[in-house]
Amino acid sequence: METELDRGAMDRDWRRYSLATRAVRAGQYQDVSDQHSEPLVLTSSYVFSDAEDAAEKFAGRRPGNVYVRFTNPTVRAFEQRVAAMEGTGDAVATSSGMACYMTVALALLHPGDHVILAEGMFGTTSRLFNTYLRNFGVAATFINVNAGRDEWISLVQSNTKLIVVESPTNPMMQVADIRDLSSIARENGILLVVDNTLCTPVYQRPHELGANLIVHSAGKYIDGQGRCGGGIIAGREGLVAQLRDVLRTVGPSLSPYNAWLFLKSLETLPIRMQEHTRNASTLAGWLMRHPAVDKIYYTGVRDHPQSELIASQQSGHGGLLSFRIRGGRREAWRFLDALKLISNTTNIRDTKTMITHPATTTHGRLSAAERGSAGVSDNLLRISIGFEDPDDLVLDLEQAFQAAMKRSA
Ligand SMILES: Cc1ncc(COP(=O)(O)O)c(C=O)c1O
Repeated sequence: METELDRGAMDRDWRRYSLATRAVRAGQYQDVSDQHSEPLVLTSSYVFSDAEDAAEKFAGRRPGNVYVRFTNPTVRAFEQRVAAMEGTGDAVATSSGMACYMTVALALLHPGDHVILAEGMFGTTSRLFNTYLRNFGVAATFINVNAGRDEWISLVQSNTKLIVVESPTNPMMQVADIRDLSSIARENGILLVVDNTLCTPVYQRPHELGANLIVHSAGKYIDGQGRCGGGIIAGREGLVAQLRDVLRTVGPSLSPYNAWLFLKSLETLPIRMQEHTRNASTLAGWLMRHPAVDKIYYTGVRDHPQSELIASQQSGHGGLLSFRIRGGRREAWRFLDALKLISNTTNIRDTKTMITHPATTTHGRLSAAERGSAGVSDNLLRISIGFEDPDDLVLDLEQAFQAAMKRSA
């Protein structure tokens, strides 16, 4: 639903401006107090000028705010800023990243439909499609994100409605060929959904590569300071309108307070992504040379098997990497327990460096076979590099490696 704010904000063609400018300016609005920083608007309902005004706004025939579940100026500003940064016509905010997937499914899928997903997506995303949506008669087929074009095409059925990928995947850092998948989707009348949580529009703009819907778990890099949860889906206006109707009817809406935090955080996103990348690259180089590390997974390493594809669709890498410690679950857990500075927590992309053992946390509800095909082995650790001095991180990691290896010797 268009609000009064849309008229001002959408007048500007953000494509003329660089991403850094869009990050601080798009979706900017003022209320009657002429403030410069966007205000946090806290109100559940809005006053109508007369009965006709209420009827027109409820019916969507007149722009304006109606009720907090589906209209709030702060949430709207956040949506407009993300749409401008992703280069899409519109965006709709939700209460979490998972609520994005639920909203997409309720809007676009029916019993008897089929969805193709990349293996190795965030564990809960795989579980949503494999359990709850299956119970409603939606079939899901999983495929390795690196599979060749012919293999992807061979999975397309007459009832296939969506292709859903995460690029890069969390935690294995595999990359989907977004251009190629979008051409398969287009040729077969399917929509391509890309989870862009890891790269953010700073490093990857899937819509420009042909994706139809772009999903974010906004509590990751968009917030960037580990404060709150939320989600956002960007896409062309007509498609987003369908999703917004689900939001209005079902109610997984974003809190205006969280939207305000996200809106302000977007202003520093381009700068923060550079710092995450710089620190993660330093740590990736150090881990690659470490004798207690079997293998490292980071899109920024030169020997990543998909480095050409990465260079063609990402302009940077961010702070998330995974590695396999020599040994198994015992060594991984000992390593985790010996860390003194780095936090053992499952969120990612914070100013603070965080580590997790995916096999027993984020991917713990998957079957052993599902974890196997996702590459989530017992010796895998995922680390999200923050803004501490990399020298301090190296000291912490080194003493933890020594503790883990000493006891397994
Ligand atoms: C790539 C990715 N997509 C989606 C989600 C789900 O988001 P949320 O936790 O906000 O529901 C996550 C959560 O970690 C994620 O990493």
